[in-house]
Amino acid sequence: MLAIEDLWVSIDGQEILKGVNLRIPAGETHVLFGKNGSGKSTLLMTLMGFPRYIVRQGSIRLKGQDITHLPTYERARLGLGLAFQRPPTIRGVRTRDLLAACAGGRSYQYLVDLYEFAPFLEREVNYGFSGGEMKRSELLQLLVQDPAMLLLDEPESGVDLENLQVVGEIINRLLQKDRRRSHREKSGLIITHTGFILDYLDADSGYIMLEGKIPCQGNPREILQHLKKFGYEECARCMR
Ligand SMILES: Nc1ncnc2c1ncn2[C@@H]1O[C@H](COP(=O)(O)OP(=O)(O)OP(=O)(O)O)[C@@H](O)[C@H]1O
Ligand SMILES: [Mg+2]
Repeated sequence: MLAIEDLWVSIDGQEILKGVNLRIPAGETHVLFGKNGSGKSTLLMTLMGFPRYIVRQGSIRLKGQDITHLPTYERARLGLGLAFQRPPTIRGVRTRDLLAACAGGRSYQYLVDLYEFAPFLEREVNYGFSGGEMKRSELLQLLVQDPAMLLLDEPESGVDLENLQVVGEIINRLLQKDRRRSHREKSGLIITHTGFILDYLDADSGYIMLEGKIPCQGNPREILQHLKKFGYEECARCMR
């Protein structure tokens, strides 16, 4: 589904990603850990093709197609979808109109009802939304868009314990976790700090990002346990 090879990326002349390699097969969910400022969000923003993120070297392929230099809307059309860590506020655009654009003509009212989102539809996108409400809005946009490759940047941050379960449910739905593994077509790359999301979600593989590189891949629960016990400092020592 997604193949990243030797990706080097800079923002405003500052080198942030330094040779990232990653491969996510169709139907698999991978989680990405890493301390603050290690480059996790930079990776997702680069995958989505935001113009400030300059690819210096390397390539990104989605379903076999080279998307390294495609504009963002082409990537979205090919099935890439992103939920931001800090979603932007868009004054003058109603949430209803954004959802309709994401839906591209498909019906989505049942999703609005299911996730009790009706009270937010007439409000401007994220304007005055609480942290948790923004996250719910982001995930709903993705549900409506129905992307093949999901990029989620800390979907659990700012979400209370009760709503965490709803977030987990939505992500499972997006990733077709109700199907047998071999019948799943959607893939996910999920950034998490706390690993809370792993209580609700089955992930196939995990990575740690350190200073713009991904030197470590393994079982996500094991990685989380090691991080809780030894922290990222030990992690950096281990890599040397
Ligand atoms: N315009 C910029 N100029 C210089 N450095 C930048 C710029 N934009 C981002 N950075 C730096 O890039 C690094 C990586 O940021 P990024 O947001 O990818 O980290 P992250 O791993 O997502 O962190 P967090 O866990 O806190 O969300 C940070 O040190 C950040 O300050
Ligand atoms: Mg981040």
